[in-house]
Amino acid sequence: MLTEGSLSLELVGSVLAEDVFAKNKSIPLLRKGTILNERHIFVLQSHLHHNNLRMETCLFNQPSISVEKLEQNYKESLGQLKTIFEDLEATINGSASNQPLQKLEHMYTPMLNTIVAEDEHFELLKLLRKDDEFTYVHSLNVAVVSSIIGKLLKMDKAEILLLGETGILHDIGKLAIPLSVLKKNGKLDPEEWELIRNHTVEGVQILKKMGETRSKVIMGTLMHHERLDGSGYPYGVREDVIPFHAQIISVADTYDAITAVRPYKGEQSPIVAVMILMEETAKGKFDSAITVPFTKYLMDQFVGKRVVLNTGEQGTVITVYEDRPHCPLVYLGDNHYVDLRYDGTRSLKDVVSY
Ligand SMILES: [Fe+2]
Repeated sequence: MLTEGSLSLELVGSVLAEDVFAKNKSIPLLRKGTILNERHIFVLQSHLHHNNLRMETCLFNQPSISVEKLEQNYKESLGQLKTIFEDLEATINGSASNQPLQKLEHMYTPMLNTIVAEDEHFELLKLLRKDDEFTYVHSLNVAVVSSIIGKLLKMDKAEILLLGETGILHDIGKLAIPLSVLKKNGKLDPEEWELIRNHTVEGVQILKKMGETRSKVIMGTLMHHERLDGSGYPYGVREDVIPFHAQIISVADTYDAITAVRPYKGEQSPIVAVMILMEETAKGKFDSAITVPFTKYLMDQFVGKRVVLNTGEQGTVITVYEDRPHCPLVYLGDNHYVDLRYDGTRSLKDVVSY
């Protein structure tokens, strides 16, 4: 469907239906099919020979794979993982002795192929089940988010697969924790808290018993609650001691914890996750080499979207910057733009709706 739009920031995210030329009509400014961002609009406002553009239906944020297909892949993977985790639990508790880890090998392939083939991951992130009270749901979510981060960091397919498989296994130690502790609503006593913290070490023991030998999977399981500033657990180690691969699992684990519904909190938006991840990065807990590209990707999805600031003001995200994605340029209306990188009083709080 073609529409005509006047040249304004309202067109951010729309697709050009024809080539557009500069005032002398000989210099092509942008080609048909370009998805307009704010920079295009500013350039066109200065140089275009007319004030109207023919646009195709807005395709912004739409992946080439259908959402239905993504959803089908995700649900099928969840179903398979549920069965595998039931086998794992039976094996851990001694009531079975099969080799459930072998079944993981092909289970993740459809998700992996989707992530490797596609550049638009946001639809998949939006599909992730938020009610991740079951370990297998959280595990698949962390696998998907870790793989997306690996893709954003331009890792090869084998590395992305390894991130996914580590994500699936990183909380396996939780299968050995009694449900009464794992699902306890009230405050944990010190012994119960110790049991929870021990899921990393316990996870490694389980993996080794089941024949897992890949060091990245083992270290990711052991260290996904460690933090670069030494504030994590089980060992409180710092920086270089924590493998990069394990740090990616930590960031993905944190993202899923923020965006999921938990007994003590509701679902929070990816913008809230961006702000928390960057806050933790500023405190020295996460590596900006991971959080900046990931949050840049997330923030890019909100260009043109309405957001709310800490002051209660609402505005539209105009430009997301490479180095500080959580501090975009926001249009507040009445010709008032605010660059959050340089505004000492304002910061991004949340998206109005997404
Ligand atoms: Fe964990």
